[in-house]
Amino acid sequence: MRVVVLVSGTGSNLQALIDASADPAYGVEIVAVGADREGTLGIVRAEAAGIPTFVTRLRDHATREEWDAALTAAIAVHEPELIVLAGFMKLVGEPFLTAYGGRTLNTHPALSPSFPGAHGPADALAYGVKVTGATLFVVDAGVDTGAIVSQVAVPVEDDDDVVSLHERIKVVERAMLVESVGRIAREGITVSGRRVRFGASDSHALD
Ligand code: GAR
Repeated sequence: MRVVVLVSGTGSNLQALIDASADPAYGVEIVAVGADREGTLGIVRAEAAGIPTFVTRLRDHATREEWDAALTAAIAVHEPELIVLAGFMKLVGEPFLTAYGGRTLNTHPALSPSFPGAHGPADALAYGVKVTGATLFVVDAGVDTGAIVSQVAVPVEDDDDVVSLHERIKVVERAMLVESVGRIAREGITVSGRRVRFGASDSHALD
């Protein structure tokens, strides 16, 4: 399965996908990595792995919609079957969703529908929840509102701060992302309203 990964920062989730993709049996080829800003470690990781990269910056475009269209065009060159937003800290809009709605996944460091947005671990800590986690979902027009593919829970410890909690979330988040993207590549995915299951729609294995 041809996959384009979008990043904004460190790219540890990207690295987990790169490492898993080294095994042909995993079923994924990362055909390009894109970012919305220059100088990200995510792009450095991709270059080190010999993966084509591109950067599409909002500030280089007159409107958000033009940026969104440019990002969509930069992705389309690589003819992906799946897009993975792995720490991509921008919302995608109409042009992107017209082209790639239904085949774009995002990973979020909280248990949806709790704590959407850019500060999932901080918001969970501030609220005082005892369990948080990570959610992989199919991107829609909302903020972290799409149909849920996978979730994994992480206990909040008494002495957690935002950094320690987010780092523990990221450990299980990476494993969830690798497991789920691999299953989609090998088995397919079926989305019925908000219900998502692995397996192609013509397969009745999970009925
Ligand atoms: C991940 O925890 C991801 O869920 C989060 O950014 C981190 C990226 O880490 N994304 C969001 O908060 C999006 N709302 P990484 O760059 O090391 O993969």
